Amino acid sequence: MQTQITVEIFCGLPCYMLGNSRILNIGAHLPETWLPHISLLASPCNPACKCADLTHAPYARVNGKMIANATVESVCEEIRRIVKEKEGILI
Ligand code: FES
Repeated sequence: MQTQITVEIFCGLPCYMLGNSRILNIGAHLPETWLPHISLLASPCNPACKCADLTHAPYARVNGKMIANATVESVCEEIRRIVKEKEGILI
């Protein structure tokens, strides 16, 4: 089965300390049947993470879309939006 949603959780010290440690467990907040379609990556701090702009950390990225002030809820919401958009493929 092909992975269709890539979730990157930035785990440089700022994002990790500001809440991304909790997002790493996002699978516990999603329907089990979706999990084979989700690739969860713990990414190092990098320019795409906007390290210079910590006012909106922590950051996560879902299928290329950067999410500032990331929370379990906001990342789940973006995943649900994608699943809904691709309904019939994932479900
Ligand atoms: S990990 Fe570098 S600011 Fe997010």
